[in-house]
Amino acid sequence: MPECYDMARPFVKWAGGKRSIINELLARAPDDLNSYFEPFVGGGALFWSMPRNGKAYLSDVNFHLVITYRMIRNNVDGVISKLEQHKKHHNEKYYAAAREMLSKATDELEVASLFIYLNKTCYNGLYRVNKSGIFNVPMGRYNNPKIVDAENLQKCAKFLTNVDIFQHGFSQIEPKKGDFVYFDPPYHETFSAYDGSGFADKEHEKLATFCKDLDKNGVLFMLSNSDNQFIRRLYDGYNMENVDASRFISCKGQERKKANELIIRNYIRRDEGKQDRKRA
Ligand SMILES: C[S@@+](CC[C@H](N)C(=O)[O-])C[C@H]1O[C@@H](n2cnc3c(N)ncnc32)[C@H](O)[C@@H]1O
Repeated sequence: MPECYDMARPFVKWAGGKRSIINELLARAPDDLNSYFEPFVGGGALFWSMPRNGKAYLSDVNFHLVITYRMIRNNVDGVISKLEQHKKHHNEKYYAAAREMLSKATDELEVASLFIYLNKTCYNGLYRVNKSGIFNVPMGRYNNPKIVDAENLQKCAKFLTNVDIFQHGFSQIEPKKGDFVYFDPPYHETFSAYDGSGFADKEHEKLATFCKDLDKNGVLFMLSNSDNQFIRRLYDGYNMENVDASRFISCKGQERKKANELIIRNYIRRDEGKQDRKRA
């Protein structure tokens, strides 16, 4: 169990981050689990709050994000000291140069510190790259962005000890019977044919098939997504609950709207009574 006073928070702002429904997720997490898997980790809101005794495996397709998790785990003091440098130089010109630097950086410490610096100073914490792989989110208008949160980064590093972190797609994970997987894919309605961001219907279908296979193998899963007919049809027969969440709904991250979120599970907790296993 993590000690509450010592709880780490996401070290990045992340589109689709689940801080606003964290209590809803925690209340539905399984009573017992072996290993914890989070294959769409992003900012990892649930991961940082989740009581954990066993092993944890985090993954995401975002290369820069995954390197940053690893560097915080492996060399948090190095990350903090580089961030102090970025903080000292921060202005519009430095921000523009940092965007270019991130695309060319090969040193992992450099990547991690630039990634956090840009996340803290860019518009809304968005992550978007152009066709040449250059981060192209404009600078945000903040008076005093918190570029270095050393205390939280140290807590994150501690919590990441012994956690395995991979860059790969969700279907590469290999949970076993009794393990728990939290899936938080990009929302269904955010797919953009224009820049290919987000998940198209085909990926959502693949994910639903993947979840059904896990279910057959005795793996526990919880998944959050937009509440709409398409998603409800894909997971028909599982335990589905609608919760209110205020979140970014547009793939461009411009609009913040009240949207309904669906939490889907293939189990219920002991305190939820003796209901049918899948249909609450
Ligand atoms: C909604 S965000 C996760 C937010 C996270 N739960 C949080 O609280 O910050 C979805 C994440 O899925 C990642 N992603 C997109 N496609 C993926 C795929 N095919 N496999 C694994 N990760 C993917 C994105 O990079 C993004 O970080």
